[in-house]
Amino acid sequence: MTVVLGIETSCDETAAAVVDDAWRTHSSIVESSIDQHRDFGGVVPELAGRAHVATIGPVVRRALEAAGRSVRDPGVDAVAVTSGPGLIGSLLVGLAAAKAYALCWDVPLVAVNHLEGHLFAPLLERPDLAWPVMTLLVSGGHTLLVYQRAPGHHEVIGETIDDAAGEAYDKVARWLGLGYPGGPPIDRLAGEGDPTALALPTSMTGDDLDFSFSGLKSAVVRAGEKRPDLAPADVAAAFQGAAVEQLTRKLRRALDRYEVRGVALAGGVAANSALRAGTTRLAEQLGLEVNLPSLAMCTDNAAMVAAAGLARYQRGQSSALDVGADPNWALASVA
Ligand code: KG4
Ligand code: ZN
Repeated sequence: MTVVLGIETSCDETAAAVVDDAWRTHSSIVESSIDQHRDFGGVVPELAGRAHVATIGPVVRRALEAAGRSVRDPGVDAVAVTSGPGLIGSLLVGLAAAKAYALCWDVPLVAVNHLEGHLFAPLLERPDLAWPVMTLLVSGGHTLLVYQRAPGHHEVIGETIDDAAGEAYDKVARWLGLGYPGGPPIDRLAGEGDPTALALPTSMTGDDLDFSFSGLKSAVVRAGEKRPDLAPADVAAAFQGAAVEQLTRKLRRALDRYEVRGVALAGGVAANSALRAGTTRLAEQLGLEVNLPSLAMCTDNAAMVAAAGLARYQRGQSSALDVGADPNWALASVA
């Protein structure tokens, strides 16, 4: 059995996990510094980096112990770590820690792209997944349509030309005074509102597979300023309706063009109730398997990083101990 320790510190979550080659998660520990950032309306990079330094050692220890192992006797074949994209001061903490463990235990280090990690999350909960799979990866920093022939093989076929879907949720929530992160409160409030109370433009009607959320966000703010009487729940419902309409329309178009057996969601916005319902409906209509990761697997964790690293390790890939962090590492450039 091959066993990998994964480490993830690209944003505000300090996470460590132990995963094996049957895609079983032996342990997955996630500590977030989100409470330190709320008052600032977004993650403050310096605070996040400092929190990682304080938390990484204890989190790795807990992940090993929860998997019946120890720092002295880890029994792992490799250490996988997110080396980008993300906040540079956060990435460096996880990368330095991972190098120290790999060096101490004399096992290979595998640098992993955070987005490739997200693509492995559905697999960890559904190892019997039928391939190929079309994955809509929607997070705070990214909106990507990815065609996956098999685990570890991905082709980016569409992406946002401006803001990410999660970023739009966060900005609209901030404007409505709902706090950070904005996805969960908008999702809740939208359930109580009338989406037809506010007419919003349909975005990205062209024939491509790309997304745009910046115009939608501005349209919401403009309409809200013109009509201050609008109930926040109605604004949330209209925004969510338009955002999910665009996401599912592009997903449908991708499914028309590529032959797949399954559809998956990944990334923080995959927790969205309307997106989950819309994707399930679409998959049912097309007779495809749908794979919606649990909420804990949608958001950042180290099990997905361990899984992506494990797949690379199995293909004989590892990273040199002088590998650096790349805050802008694009998924499309991952070999
Ligand atoms: O993947 P993630 O945990 O972090 C990265 O960006 O890598 O995603 C966080 C994003 C935030 O923008 C947050 O507002 C959004 O996911 N989010 C949601 C929901 N839950 C989290 N967006 C819409 N609806 C939700 N229920
Ligand atoms: Zn993420």
